[in-house]
Amino acid sequence: MKFKRAHRLRGTITVPGDKSISHRSIMFGALAKGTTRVTNFLQGADCLSTIACFERMGIEIDNRADEILIYGKGLHGLRASKGVLDVGNSGTTIRLISGILSGQSFTTQLTGDASIQSRPMRRIIEPLSQMGAQIESVQGNGCAPLRIQGAPLHGIHYVSPVASAQVKSCILLAGLYADSPTSVTEPYLSRNHSEIMLRHFGASVLSEGTTATVQPEPELQAQEIQVPGDISSAAYFIASALIVPDSEILIKNVGMNPTRDGILKVCMAMGADITIFNEDGSGEPTADLMVRHSGLRGTTIGGAVIPTLIDELPVVAALACFAEGTTLIKDAQELKVKESNRIDVMVKNLTAMGAQVTETEDGMIIEGGHPLHGAVIDSRMDHRIAMTFAVTALASDGETQIIDADCVKISYPDFYQDLYALIEG
Ligand code: S3P
Repeated sequence: MKFKRAHRLRGTITVPGDKSISHRSIMFGALAKGTTRVTNFLQGADCLSTIACFERMGIEIDNRADEILIYGKGLHGLRASKGVLDVGNSGTTIRLISGILSGQSFTTQLTGDASIQSRPMRRIIEPLSQMGAQIESVQGNGCAPLRIQGAPLHGIHYVSPVASAQVKSCILLAGLYADSPTSVTEPYLSRNHSEIMLRHFGASVLSEGTTATVQPEPELQAQEIQVPGDISSAAYFIASALIVPDSEILIKNVGMNPTRDGILKVCMAMGADITIFNEDGSGEPTADLMVRHSGLRGTTIGGAVIPTLIDELPVVAALACFAEGTTLIKDAQELKVKESNRIDVMVKNLTAMGAQVTETEDGMIIEGGHPLHGAVIDSRMDHRIAMTFAVTALASDGETQIIDADCVKISYPDFYQDLYALIEG
């Protein structure tokens, strides 16, 4: 697909439902008793992989497009899948499901696409094994395919070396099947959607600082879930409006969970003109955002804010190219083990567009203020890279071509249509 400079962006956009919350709504709905109803579910390929996995384990799921009904069978209602469970490109699916499968009375094999098969799974194999799980990497390389034979589980207190909601959630879900409470302590707090939603379904989950503790064997009860708009998807429109002159857009119903709103904090620190209003709800709060073109300045991003904008760091790196001065992204080694190595792919592609970027061990340094020009961008089939460069192209000279641009279907199938609808001239 090809992209070029935009004259300006105007209009209103409602981004699709949050990916993390959509995954969890299916999983927890399947483990609850009764019918869970989900609205504003993200119909992206990743979340459809989660649906397919639970259907293969005997859960009836009625995807009516405007709402999803999950006919949950309780904590012990899953049955063995006839074949291998395929999670596609979805790290959230494979890591969270592994926690659930560790406590079942059957054996499952899990696999996914080439990206999934190269991502680290020892981070879940290790704590699950400590709990008594029978889980192994089939090829012995610490990656998928995984084979999990359900076993009796014991509660542990796990001190995680990484701030990862997938690791934390995997352990907490296994903890539902354990014989005593299970806790996870992280170096920094990662997104807490599992804790919030498990409580909503009736589980006892305590959050204290960066430690979450779950009590075993709750009766999970079916719920109504309204998925808020995904702030990670909103990030591309925020960035577009900030870098394209004369832009002003309204983004409605954006999820504002404080474990996810780092993109707003960082944009504000860079001098962004963003107004937050219509704030609503607790637990998973939402708000509308008015974003206007802004003169940006460089900033330093590291430490506790990193997990709160981990998926937005590619687009933040692009934004930094349009800011005056230097932006330092540090403590972000996790970017190397996402759908692609996002440090490497960002540095290579931004450099191809004329940016001054240096790769570091745990992030990158960007010297802003150098005009960018079009280039051929290899997305490496990573949805967030494709969306980031579609945005970057809107404020760059010449033409930008994105290879495998349709990978946006993972988290935002209508991304290009929605972006084009805001472009004037
Ligand atoms: C997610 C957690 C994050 C994030 C991913 C979704 C989740 O991954 O990058 O897109 O839904 O729990 P990590 O837990 O590996 O940081």
